[in-house]
Amino acid sequence: MSHPETRPASRFSPKLKETITSLLGRYETKRSSILPILHAVQDERDWISPEDVQELERDFGLSVVDVTEVLTFYTMYRKSPPKPYRLEVCGSISCWLLGSDDTLRAAAEKIAAAQAEGRPLPFEVHRVECLGVCGYAPVALVNKDRYLNVTPAEALRLMDDYAKRPLPEAAKVAAADLAARGGKYEPPAPVGQ
Ligand code: FES
Repeated sequence: MSHPETRPASRFSPKLKETITSLLGRYETKRSSILPILHAVQDERDWISPEDVQELERDFGLSVVDVTEVLTFYTMYRKSPPKPYRLEVCGSISCWLLGSDDTLRAAAEKIAAAQAEGRPLPFEVHRVECLGVCGYAPVALVNKDRYLNVTPAEALRLMDDYAKRPLPEAAKVAAADLAARGGKYEPPAPVGQ
């Protein structure tokens, strides 16, 4: 256990710590609470860093080994700082038949063109599996907001719209985190090594 004087400052907000404590109380074992706790950490910090994993062990008694195992198994957890907006386009059959590949391509090309001009956009684009509203294909998410009938033109309009919005809180946390690392991101080394 760390000496109180050398204990690093907490990276988590009081609200997040409260959520983690409450989640720990809802499950019989600490191990069973790891999935929802990682969701809560990701919701606040936008991604889950090795330091976050260490804080979960230090302050909440969750084993680094157990947490790292869950973190690396599930792709839904982000292990590196993401862009502020994650555009996810469904690539399953109904959406694919109605042109989701064109939507994905249009978004990816817009990002690449802006990058080439030295003005990177705050987006990353991903193809995902069925989002459950196949009658409104193509379907897309921007972070947690769902959009229906997302043609290529609609995707570009959405990107223009989101680019004008203030950054989400979690993205500000991730940006500050990255700045504290000197603006460079090194992929996390296995925790505890
Ligand atoms: S196939 Fe795209 S939402 Fe179901």
